[in-house]
Amino acid sequence: MCGIMGYVGTRQALPILLDGLRRLEYRGYDSAGVAVLENGTVEVRKSAGKLSVLEGVVAREPLAGRIGIGHTRWATHGKPTDTNAHPHGDCTGRHVVIHNGIIENFLVLRERLQAEGHKFRSDTDTEVLAHLIEAEITKMPADLKDRLAAAVRAAVAQARGAYAIVVLSADQPDRIVAVRMISPLIVGIGDGEMLLASDIPALLPHTRDVLVISDGEMAIIEPGRVRITDLDGRPLARSPERITWDAAMAEKGGYPHFMLKEIGEQPRALHETIMGRLDELHRVELDGVRYPEGFVERLDKVWVVACGTAYHAGLVGRWTIEHLARVPVEPELASELRYRSPLIEGTTLAIAVSQSGETADTLAAAREARAHGSRLLAVTNVVGSTLAREADDVLFIRAGPEIAVASTKAYSTMLVALQMLAVDLGLRRGVLAPARAAELLAGLRHLPVLAQDVLSRSGPVEALAERLAGLEHAFFIGRGLDYAVAMEGSLKLKEISYLHSEALAAGELKHGTLALVTRDTPVFALVTQRAVYEKTIANIQEVRARGAEVIAIAYDDDREIAKHAETVLRIPPVDDLLAPVLAIVPLQLFAYYVAVRRGHDIDQPRNLAKSVTVE
Ligand code: AGP
Repeated sequence: MCGIMGYVGTRQALPILLDGLRRLEYRGYDSAGVAVLENGTVEVRKSAGKLSVLEGVVAREPLAGRIGIGHTRWATHGKPTDTNAHPHGDCTGRHVVIHNGIIENFLVLRERLQAEGHKFRSDTDTEVLAHLIEAEITKMPADLKDRLAAAVRAAVAQARGAYAIVVLSADQPDRIVAVRMISPLIVGIGDGEMLLASDIPALLPHTRDVLVISDGEMAIIEPGRVRITDLDGRPLARSPERITWDAAMAEKGGYPHFMLKEIGEQPRALHETIMGRLDELHRVELDGVRYPEGFVERLDKVWVVACGTAYHAGLVGRWTIEHLARVPVEPELASELRYRSPLIEGTTLAIAVSQSGETADTLAAAREARAHGSRLLAVTNVVGSTLAREADDVLFIRAGPEIAVASTKAYSTMLVALQMLAVDLGLRRGVLAPARAAELLAGLRHLPVLAQDVLSRSGPVEALAERLAGLEHAFFIGRGLDYAVAMEGSLKLKEISYLHSEALAAGELKHGTLALVTRDTPVFALVTQRAVYEKTIANIQEVRARGAEVIAIAYDDDREIAKHAETVLRIPPVDDLLAPVLAIVPLQLFAYYVAVRRGHDIDQPRNLAKSVTVE
């Protein structure tokens, strides 16, 4: 998730761009850059690192001009380096592009453009757009009034993916052209000036009148004028809206807390995780994962190492990989692995799961596994993180920056990444029938829509939280994958609500913990695993017999469950292997609403840090 900024008007562009980028820094950054049009020439300054590094660069080499674009990068393709920072130019340096999102078919486009003689400087997917625009604009008649817009339209017609792009060109130095395809883009309407940004906070110092660009729309901004068209160039009539949020709310996209914003971002994040990795022929293509010849066939054990929420994702990964790829998987808490003389060998794959890629325990365990000869595969969110740099293979979860300490969208995207990995391993090992793989991949593709559906059911979850906000103890039970989700649901509640909660394999209750179950200990029962449905119902009966209130998480088509639970939080029916991605959502929301009722600091709970870089 990158930050985009554009300005055209009567003031100097540079300070406005830098201020806007500063306000977008919460979207994550590993590099930044600006381009300003000066005397008919596009001047670019960019650098790896925080915005302050770029500020140092422009202090040494200033830029003057009343039209410009700026970008903070959150890398998806290519390491965070000076060269990979945006803006990216074409061969002539006359056209520059900034971009938020992913161009799925960039490799094919790049090869074609290289064959046509275009010279590439970076490893990014973005650069293909600059060269495509260069190729297209030369085909446009010189007297065509909107030739830049026409060239951009012709370029994006060749690109596949989710993106927002902003283009500045010396050919038409009075305008900026932008296109939105899924990634956010907003026009700010000023007095004799126009702005563009990927989020509203960057616009608020200048205007509260905005036009939110929709998917498949183009915006052409000039001083005092904005035109919106579709991708065939047909003009669209749009009216601005007035923003009434304060700056703090605007940074959170209108949400009161980052955690709620990130819970709400899950459909988009899931979409990005999957995008470009499942092809039409039901194959999985995991960019960044390249096992050596024969490795998968010889593979005799998989270790999953991680901490906290990432470990809980690893537990789902264990179940799914064993089930689909028929290879033993040992999930291990990263802080434990090092001290148990693990039996790790060259025929072993260690999967280290970490949102930040910087968790000290996870890094230590990953290094330990590697030192024993294991191949190391990282599942992480942060391109350029230590884990990503040290691993043999990397599968990025593409969740975008996660700011709240309580991990939500990183968890669900880790699940999907591990599920894709499991299908891929199963197919490569020849133990997963292609028809079953196709079924699962179709299910994965549909998850973002279903996750949106679950989010739309937040009302009953909030009402439940209101009623149970004063509770002191809670239990979460489930079997198989439901048990793994129970662990994550319980952790979410603990870390932001500060109440005692425990997750148990439902069948284990009667071996001790049942003694703690009373009418004052609500029990959340996950009931999505059809193969053990009756067994879980029997466990529900055990707790109800002790007076506990049961809140079940179950499928819409489960007609039985209402007889066994006081409250049922429903999710749409899916393949049981994919259910964790949906079942966690009501539990995340419940934890959030309880913590809000209890008046806690949601985004920075006491005693906890987002990234634990000490052992
Ligand atoms: C969960 O909400 C926590 N933030 C925590 O358990 C976290 O998942 C853990 O510290 C691991 O972090 P990582 O994914 O960045 O390695």
